[in-house]
Amino acid sequence: MTSEVTDQVKTRYAELVAQINDAQHRYYVDDAPTLSDAAYDKLMHELEALEAELPELVSQDSPTQRVGAGQWLGFPSVDHAERMLSLDNAFNDEQLAAWATRAERDAGVPVRYLCELKIDGLAVNLTYEKGRLTRGATRGDGRTGEDVTPNVRRIKGIPHQLAGDNPPDLVEVRGEIYFPAEAFKALNEAQLEAGDRTYVNPRNAASGSLRQKDAAVTGRRALKLIVHGIGARTGFEPGHQSDAYEQLKAWGLPTSERWKVVDSLDEVREFIAFYAEHRHDLEHDIDGVVVKIDDTAVQEKLGATSRAPRWAIAYKYPPEEVNTKLLAIEVNVGRTGRVTPYAVLEPVYVGGVTVASATLHNQQEVVRKGVLIGDTVVIRRAGDVIPEVLGPVEALRDGTQTVWTMPEACPSCGTKLAPSKEADVDLRCPNTRSCKAQLVERIKYVGSRDGFDIEGMGEKVARALVFDEILADEGELFSLDEKKLAGSPFFLKKNGELSSNAGKLLNNLAEARAKDLFRVLTSLSIRHVGPTAARALANHFNSVPAIAGASLEQMSVVEDVGGTIAEAVREWFAVDWHREVVDKWAAAGVRMEQEPVADTGPKPLDGMSVVVTGTLQNYSRDTASDALVAIGAKVAGSVSKKTSFVVVGEDAGSKLDKALALGVPTLDEAGFEVLLTQGAEAARAYAEASRENA
Ligand code: IVH
Repeated sequence: MTSEVTDQVKTRYAELVAQINDAQHRYYVDDAPTLSDAAYDKLMHELEALEAELPELVSQDSPTQRVGAGQWLGFPSVDHAERMLSLDNAFNDEQLAAWATRAERDAGVPVRYLCELKIDGLAVNLTYEKGRLTRGATRGDGRTGEDVTPNVRRIKGIPHQLAGDNPPDLVEVRGEIYFPAEAFKALNEAQLEAGDRTYVNPRNAASGSLRQKDAAVTGRRALKLIVHGIGARTGFEPGHQSDAYEQLKAWGLPTSERWKVVDSLDEVREFIAFYAEHRHDLEHDIDGVVVKIDDTAVQEKLGATSRAPRWAIAYKYPPEEVNTKLLAIEVNVGRTGRVTPYAVLEPVYVGGVTVASATLHNQQEVVRKGVLIGDTVVIRRAGDVIPEVLGPVEALRDGTQTVWTMPEACPSCGTKLAPSKEADVDLRCPNTRSCKAQLVERIKYVGSRDGFDIEGMGEKVARALVFDEILADEGELFSLDEKKLAGSPFFLKKNGELSSNAGKLLNNLAEARAKDLFRVLTSLSIRHVGPTAARALANHFNSVPAIAGASLEQMSVVEDVGGTIAEAVREWFAVDWHREVVDKWAAAGVRMEQEPVADTGPKPLDGMSVVVTGTLQNYSRDTASDALVAIGAKVAGSVSKKTSFVVVGEDAGSKLDKALALGVPTLDEAGFEVLLTQGAEAARAYAEASRENA
């Protein structure tokens, strides 16, 4: 075995990469394979062995680094009995209406429309002869696909034999293979754990999972099928598309639950609008709605162009994944010193907003995604989820792209970056006290809703205080006065007098001193200590000095405070300047203790999780949370199956949709009062009753 990177090894490695890449190109792009399957496999094995032995060799353009590595290239070609057509698209209502007008005119009779979802998956063609599944093929170019019969047979939910006594002699069933959203997450986690490349999106995962050489691997993947049409057939002549679906379902094939036949274009529009709202509540991605003329006689009359039928159209939703240029990778310094790379992007409209940057989390993530500066990259922004760089479009590289490396020094203060612990993936700026970038972030956090919730203490004020050197650290925050603020032009009017924002800031800081103890603790920016842990610590120890003096054991027994948090708290208080911050705040009159919260034993909402969304009349977010926490509930930020209730105020958005989709009980403000005063059972009854009245 080789164990060092000699020139000879390097040359062989480069040869292998080039040969395999070339073979893949010949196979996929030119459709003219140059290698036998066995020869291809041999090269691939040699490459994998070399990379396992010498990981430092692995290059960005190695075929093992591409999504879909492990896919087999050697599936035999197979012709479809009837061509698999594509669909024409409508991107707006005008185009949809133009299609409908023409179809109705050419039909010459009133038409009914069948609406269904356009599943973002992988098209397949299943051939059933006398009811037996004899072949499964990918779409390929529409005429010829890859024969993936053994793989298709392993997919759960695809019958090998059609149910019933009277199957037709022949039927080609067309459908979409997809990777369910939840399973996709789990697959990528498993791939990551096994050191394999993750898949960019569920569609790639579906494609990669179906095209496995070892069909047993396909069988272990959570693939699913939904059928949406038929091709060649003898002995099966449905009068309507909807009849076909009923029959396919009766044969045991997986049809969608979500199709609907309607009489008018307005109802088509309603269907389109409904799923535009609910596209994230589904088990699979969709990129639009497919509208088909239901009557097969009319379908035949309208016919098809060389590409697509005239009797169907895909209404496409605005894309949630688009390509754009990765202009640069820069780094942010966070409030605990963590240095996070982010992508600077050519601004692009995606998922309803213009995106110009996206976090890349850490340097490993940049390597894992395999992006180079100058790459065309795929960006995803779905619903209100933050934008994400999925990966590069390698086919569009032209050799000008460059590898990014993490800076060695803090971009703000120049201190050498280092992980805080050896195994940590994150690099941090160790100059925690004086690094201006960190200090700005900490001061912003003191002012934030999770911290002291101080109006007017945001980015601009924090930057003025730090960069005009009004403060050396946050210890001096509560002893600011007019004289000190006058040192920054930000707080001065043109005539040199103090501006009103200076006075407001001082007032707000003065008021903040008396706020709840947990806010003091949160505002110290101790790693892992957010409002929940801070509340737990505050209510257990009732004073900052008691927490500072608590042992690991004393802290880690507190609910919501585990070993990690306890350790972070200990480490934080072990630093001299940290303790000085606390002393200075105490000297300036900031609350350092609280009356013990009476222990009333188990609380009525213990173990329950509640989400509050939208605006309530009589509660702010904070007072609503406080009221819930006081009776034992956890207040969560997102809705899941485990959520006990969602409290819904005015202008609630996607969280309400999610609650409805998951069947989580929802409460309006009156229902929220019921929950607070009469408990969970009464609130559940209230939710039930209001659902029935709705
Ligand atoms: S019908 C002759 N229905 O979208 C009609 N296609 O962009 C052909 N697709 O190649 C297709 N969901 O793979 C139809 N409900 C649906 C679909 C659907 C997804 C795919 C299909 C097709 C592609 C065209």
